Amino acid sequence: MAFSFIRLYLNTCCIHGFRYLVKSMLLFLERLLWFILLIASIYFCIISCLSSVHRFHTKSTHIGLERNSYYWNTSMPSITICPMRRINETLFDKYCRVNKLRGREKTEFWDFLENLANSTYTNFQNIPEYDSIDGTLDSLGIRPKHYMELIYNLTYDGTYEPIEAIRIRCVDGQIHMRARQILTEFGLCYLCSSYLGEEYSSRFLIFGEYPEFNKYLNLHRFIDVKQATFFDSDMGFTLLGFECEAIDSYIHSAFEVMKVDNNFGYTHDGATYEPEVEEIVAESNFRTETSISQRNCRFYHESNLTHYPFYTKNICQQECRINLAYKICKCIPHFYPNQIANPKPVCNYKTLKSCFPRHASYFLKFYKKDGNRAESAECYCEQNCIDAILKLKRALPMRGAKQLLGSMGSSISMNTWPRNQFKRQVIFSFTDLLVSIGGTAGLYLGFSVLGLVEFVYFFTLRLLWHLFGYEI
Ligand SMILES: *[C@@H]1O[C@H](CO)[C@@H](O)[C@H](O)[C@H]1NC(C)=O
Ligand SMILES: *[C@@H]1O[C@H](CO)[C@@H](O)[C@H](O)[C@H]1NC(C)=O
Ligand SMILES: *[C@@H]1O[C@H](CO)[C@@H](O)[C@H](O)[C@H]1NC(C)=O
Ligand SMILES: *[C@@H]1O[C@H](CO)[C@@H](O)[C@H](O)[C@H]1NC(C)=O
Ligand SMILES: *[C@@H]1O[C@H](CO)[C@@H](O)[C@H](O)[C@H]1NC(C)=O
Repeated sequence: MAFSFIRLYLNTCCIHGFRYLVKSMLLFLERLLWFILLIASIYFCIISCLSSVHRFHTKSTHIGLERNSYYWNTSMPSITICPMRRINETLFDKYCRVNKLRGREKTEFWDFLENLANSTYTNFQNIPEYDSIDGTLDSLGIRPKHYMELIYNLTYDGTYEPIEAIRIRCVDGQIHMRARQILTEFGLCYLCSSYLGEEYSSRFLIFGEYPEFNKYLNLHRFIDVKQATFFDSDMGFTLLGFECEAIDSYIHSAFEVMKVDNNFGYTHDGATYEPEVEEIVAESNFRTETSISQRNCRFYHESNLTHYPFYTKNICQQECRINLAYKICKCIPHFYPNQIANPKPVCNYKTLKSCFPRHASYFLKFYKKDGNRAESAECYCEQNCIDAILKLKRALPMRGAKQLLGSMGSSISMNTWPRNQFKRQVIFSFTDLLVSIGGTAGLYLGFSVLGLVEFVYFFTLRLLWHLFGYEI
């Protein structure tokens, strides 16, 4: 009975060739031939379908080049400045008064703290080691995990300065731009012209709280990033208000954070940088229609990092560095956010001096050479989906700017605009996948959606009728 039903199906079904399997008039050899042909068709159909699925999962996007430069807006790059004087004397004096710290202890503590706040992978060895430091830290109850908090407390955030002339601010003539204090691998620095959200600020990364409302910034209308069209001539802006003898400037894409080993200049006078940018943008449906593994890039909000609630490629590399430092030195430097479920131990200043300088270039480059054996650390970071590529054309020192502007700073100035732009596009969407699979099945087997419906129908309704004894 069952056999005869299947036979009936094969006889009438839509897939060509099936019916020859059961035609009783045919020779056995002929039937075998058809059987082999069928198996071969099904095999190639499956192979082709699998390759379509693979293509959909791994190669469904590409980056195209656009050249109609008249129609875009180009975002100007970001600038990050780290002042080379970190601790505010007024705040430090007050702190010492409250905690009854004076004399030699106070000066040594100042020196220690200033260098700790100014430390990064390249200069951990400069942290001074005085006999009094351990005692001072003990009596103040400062443990390594409090280092960054203490430095934050004793640093004056110049963007909240009431007097405009000495405020850390980012301006271009009449246009005001947002400037903020951020936590970087080089301590507390200031950032201007960035698309990154408020999570990327010192307060959020250290305490997990959004920055306080800045009433001085909000006195005026301000913008985050300046955009220019192809027809604009000169554009620029300046981040200024630094009252110290030297600053360190970093120029980077407005969608990225600075890279500590990639500074554009340690200067005593500030400088004007002339970069060239080329942007990578994405089609409007790019984000919703693809998954991360399909496009091999991440948007700002798609973070899978532990220490940071947002994603950029450099931030991901910072996290790699955290993990590497933890692996090698068993603790992490104080300038990383550590507001996580299982905070990692923060390094004592002695460990910073003893363990880190030996491995500095390994930490920074993720690559080391022992004799002739090279070893690279595990660090896989996806690209940013939206980003900009920067080339520095020129850097001009701003001599005498301090006298002119009343304080130090760096500027970005641009007068050439890109003629090319990269665009991430979906070239093989889910609809394309369906069409491709359907086309393959049609090509090899003559199969279609209605054929599938027929199959279901045959083995449900029609089977039922058959069981009840009706002949159709
Ligand atoms: C470019 O910027 C101008 C204003 O600055 C805006 O009106 C325009 O819509 C922008 N164009 C694009 C393509 O974003
Ligand atoms: C801070 O570190 C930089 C880089 O190592 C160094 O050039 C600068 O002199 C340091 N600043 C102070 C105040 O020690
Ligand atoms: C130090 O902080 C005080 C406010 O506490 C501020 O008035 C002063 O300008 C700051 N000094 C420097 C050099 O930034
Ligand atoms: C920093 O300041 C906050 C608020 O004023 C205070 O609660 C905290 O204990 C201070 N941290 C250190 C290490 O002094
Ligand atoms: C984040 O995702 C990438 C692959 O998309 C993976 O290699 C990496 O290990 C992930 N990171 C974490 C912290 O889970």
